[in-house]
Amino acid sequence: MGEGTESAGHWAAPDLGDVVVGRGALLARVGEIGAAITRDYAGRPPLLVGVLKGALNFMADLMRSIELPVEVDFMAVSSYGAATKTSGVVRIVKDLDVDLAGRDVIIIEDVVDSGLTLNYLRQYLGARHPASLEVCALLLKEGEQRVAQPLKYVGFTIGPAFVVGYGLDVNERYRNLDAIYTFVGEP
Ligand code: IMP
Repeated sequence: MGEGTESAGHWAAPDLGDVVVGRGALLARVGEIGAAITRDYAGRPPLLVGVLKGALNFMADLMRSIELPVEVDFMAVSSYGAATKTSGVVRIVKDLDVDLAGRDVIIIEDVVDSGLTLNYLRQYLGARHPASLEVCALLLKEGEQRVAQPLKYVGFTIGPAFVVGYGLDVNERYRNLDAIYTFVGEP
C-alpha cells in the first residue's frame, strides 16, 4: 500500500463508492478537536460519553489526543435497526455506569443525521444533572436535521449519502475500515 492510499482493499470494494474522509484527514481533524477540548476543559476534565457502536473508532483516537485526565463511559443505543433510514425510535441498549451529577459531560457521536438520536440522548442525560452537557460529533449531515442541534465540536460536514467505515456500519459490517466511504451496495 503506497502513501496516501486507503486500505479498504479488495474485500470491501464492490460495496464502496468514493472516499468521503480519508485516513489522514480523519487523524488530523481528530487531533485538532482533541487540542480544542484540552484547551476548553483545562482544570475540569470532562467525562466522555461514547455512543456505541459507531463512535468506537472516533472515541479511541479522540481520547488519546486529549491531554487531560478524562474519564470515559459508553452508552449503546439502537435507532436504525437494519435499515439505512432513521426510524425515529431510540432504544437504550446499554446505559452508563457512572453518575453524571456535577460532571462536565461531552457526548461523543459518530454522525448526526436527523438529529433524533442526539435529541433523545441530550434529554435523557441532561435529566441526570450534569454540570454541563455538550456534543462532539465526527460527522454532520448537511441539511438533514429534523431536530436542530447545538454541536460544540464537529469533525466534518458531509452530504446526505449513507457512509460506512471508521466505526460506521451497514448491518454491522465495515466498521473496521480506516477511512469513511459512501456505501453503494445493497443494505
Ligand atoms: P439520526 O438519529 O438520524 O441523527 O441518526 C444517528 C445515528 O444513525 C448515528 O449515530 C448512526 O448510528 C446512524 N447513521 C446515520 N447516518 C448514517 C450513515 O450514513 N452511516 C452509518 N450510520 C448512520
